Amino acid sequence: MVIIAPSILSADFTRLGEEINAVAAVGAEWIHIDVMDGHFVPNITIGAVVVENIRKKTPIFLDCHLMIENPQDYINAFAKAGANLITIHRESITDPQALIQQIKHAGCLAGISINPETSLETIRDIIPEVDLVLIMSVHPGFSGQTFIPEVLPKLKEARSIIQQTHKRIYLQIDGGINAQNAAVVKQHGADVLVAASFIFHSKDYKAAITQLKKA
Ligand code: DX5
Ligand code: ZN
Repeated sequence: MVIIAPSILSADFTRLGEEINAVAAVGAEWIHIDVMDGHFVPNITIGAVVVENIRKKTPIFLDCHLMIENPQDYINAFAKAGANLITIHRESITDPQALIQQIKHAGCLAGISINPETSLETIRDIIPEVDLVLIMSVHPGFSGQTFIPEVLPKLKEARSIIQQTHKRIYLQIDGGINAQNAAVVKQHGADVLVAASFIFHSKDYKAAITQLKKA
């Protein structure tokens, strides 16, 4: 069974606690938190203080996706705020090994992500050491973009590398996920589906999450 991780980027921020409880009540296993710094991506979103406030209200698994430069300066703050998993981008770091260790030492699961145009070769060696691989299926920065199908072969190859490790490593897809493409991303090996607009812009969160799960 796949894990559904609604991204709060498309939630109503004036009612964030209610929005999180609403998706958690209808089958969302994780909450995906898109952290953007206005440097690595052309948008600014959520800092550790928001994670800390969310954590006070819910025990749900918090999946923090850091789209920022110098993630080493912020990992400990997100861990302390209550993140369960911290994903960093290969494009924003030079020493993935050190950063993965830093995340684990901070007590979190560690994820590595690549943008649509980044080759899987840039993370092949580090995959056995992480808990999650995130294949971006849009250019990071904004919700509501169109899924890029050209990343599908990379997703499939990532699944095959993960299988060879014989470890429990999640394979996450993020960007433009909806009821139409959920089946194909699962067929290519994804087991954690992130969705912002498809869920939070729908009238019925339960129906949206169920469609992603059953696709
Ligand atoms: C994109 C973010 C995604 C985004 C997904 O930069 O990493 O998590 O919120 O939004 P949708 O599902 O609307 O494409
Ligand atoms: Zn994301």
